Amino acid sequence: MHHVRTITDSAYNLHGSAPPRPSLRGTGVPPGTLTAVPQADQTSPESFPGPPRPMRVTPVPLAELARLLDADEPGAPVSGSTGAPEGDTASGAGVSVTGITHDSRAVRPGDIYAALPGARLHGADFVEQAQSLGAAAVLTDPGGTERAAATGLPVLTVPDPRGRMGQLAATIYGKPGEDLLQIGITGTSGKTTTAYLVDGGLRKAAQKGEPRVACPAKGGGGRREGGGLTGLIGTVESRIGDERIKSERTTPEATDLQALFAVMRERGVSSVAMEVSSHALVLGRVDGCVFDVAVFNNLSPEHLDFHRDIEDYFQAKRQLFTPERSRAAVVNFDDEYGFRLLTELQDEGFPVTSFSAEGHPDADWRAEDVEVGPLGSTFTAVGPDGQEVLAGAPIAGPFNVANALAALTALAAAGIDPNIAAEGISAVPGVPGRLQRVDAGQDYLAIVDYAHKPDAVESVLYAVRKVTEGAVHAVLGCGGDRDPHKRPAMGAALARLSDTAVLTSDNPRSEDPLAILATMLGGAAEVPAHERGIVLVEEDRAAAIRAAVARAEPGDTVLILGKGHEQGQDIAGVVRPFDDVQVLYDSIRARAAEQAPAGPMHAPTHTVAAPSPSSPALSVPPSESSANHRTDNQNR
Ligand SMILES: Nc1ncnc2c1ncn2[C@@H]1O[C@H](COP(=O)(O)OP(=O)(O)O)[C@@H](O)[C@H]1O
Ligand SMILES: [Mg+2]
Repeated sequence: MHHVRTITDSAYNLHGSAPPRPSLRGTGVPPGTLTAVPQADQTSPESFPGPPRPMRVTPVPLAELARLLDADEPGAPVSGSTGAPEGDTASGAGVSVTGITHDSRAVRPGDIYAALPGARLHGADFVEQAQSLGAAAVLTDPGGTERAAATGLPVLTVPDPRGRMGQLAATIYGKPGEDLLQIGITGTSGKTTTAYLVDGGLRKAAQKGEPRVACPAKGGGGRREGGGLTGLIGTVESRIGDERIKSERTTPEATDLQALFAVMRERGVSSVAMEVSSHALVLGRVDGCVFDVAVFNNLSPEHLDFHRDIEDYFQAKRQLFTPERSRAAVVNFDDEYGFRLLTELQDEGFPVTSFSAEGHPDADWRAEDVEVGPLGSTFTAVGPDGQEVLAGAPIAGPFNVANALAALTALAAAGIDPNIAAEGISAVPGVPGRLQRVDAGQDYLAIVDYAHKPDAVESVLYAVRKVTEGAVHAVLGCGGDRDPHKRPAMGAALARLSDTAVLTSDNPRSEDPLAILATMLGGAAEVPAHERGIVLVEEDRAAAIRAAVARAEPGDTVLILGKGHEQGQDIAGVVRPFDDVQVLYDSIRARAAEQAPAGPMHAPTHTVAAPSPSSPALSVPPSESSANHRTDNQNR
């Protein structure tokens, strides 16, 4: 929520003094603790709305930015467009800039306001608001020039202002990325998880004073030194050291991203793990970034509501692996598109390191002796020169071996000792909503996972089956206002791979929840009756979770899919608080209380059990007892 605030002292920022620092208080929670993500605190009177900004910015003359735009785009009109004579304010002479934003409500004194064309409105419609908040200049396209110029502010006009914001932001904030070791992760699945695992490795390295040598790919340049804090940018949250910032989207807009890098640098961050979505690449959100290492996890037909076809989707991700965006690549040998990327990059002479969780001997890093368990996996990572590193994935599921090996390979490619990297990766206490175990003292496994794509649903169900002795009771819904084509496949996967498939609502958004369920059910009905489990339909998500819990017996697994870390449910545009972890925990407790009415339960003084998967004290392995062992559907 943004608050509009009128700032009268519009001059101070231009003179280089520090604007008030946004208050982003730490939560006092130890690193890696799985909790709900707090909102950035925007309530203190001195704070500005919107994403964080650096405290200190050296003002950049507007003329210099105009030259930058002009030089890169010969012939593009860059001007004070009021026709005012040279030297006049409207032409921007003497004006300096200390920030940039495309959100008129988030403008701070000294900012360039980027007035972008939108589907319905034009940013130029809000230029008065930007001006009242202290904008020093406007960047816009020809369609916005006239309205922007009417304010009397200097106007920079380029054909594609969105495409220039990242570069301008990087320049205004003093190229913060160059002082950070940056590892970017792309792929259809596993970006968030891999980013947390990379962060674990970076934390361990920082503790040990690494990376001491600059990333080889960075040509030994950069001003990075050993130690320091780590930064994380992704779907669940962004982090500066242990401070958490709520994440609006997987990859922030370019202007906010560069500001965040600058804040990180200012606070002593030396390395950053970051998710890079294909949307971000297409929409220019990582413009202005050059990653030291870019990771390609995998590609499967997803987001085809956004991309024309899979080739288009691949090409979108492909953009990350160009000299403009990264200095070295790490790719998944086992993935069809990863392999294609590997060969293309090798042909181009682009530095690339491959990894194979399946242990392919031609990959640079491969996993051997993989042992998967309900809490995580262990494996030996064999490196390019035959070096062997004992490694582990701190989260269950074979695909997390791939994520852990991706992280290890990326860290090694960044010049970090692979043993230190492996140590840090296996010490990660879990990733919120990614195969997150919920422990209320029950004798069956209870897991919350974010899988919300057909492939992910399948791989999670396979992974969970592998470590479940008894039956799997899974709950899943499909989001409304999103790719409807995946719904039948998701319904089918759930019906085929679980003993009890409870179809329910995810975020129906503006759609009729029953209509979504009907499509999912249609997919489930395509699975021959003898190949599917019991299929239940329960529109109410909390009731669906209770239904799954009610069926659990010792040694079973209850699996709640689709929403992971999310803290709300959007029904008809109203977002109500809803937390799968909390609801699952409460359902388990409620059932236990029903079953044991005589003895009082332990007073539930906590709110949520968010167990650390790596903590043996909290582990509840599937029961060894076979008394209630059901074998139906086990081999589907
Ligand atoms: N490497 C992988 N391959 C297939 N599925 C995965 C992989 N990693 C994670 N998943 C599944 O996808 C879900 C989303 O994982 P996440 O790490 O949040 O990926 P992303 O950020 O790319 O959406 C997880 O909850 C899990 O079910
Ligand atoms: Mg993500």
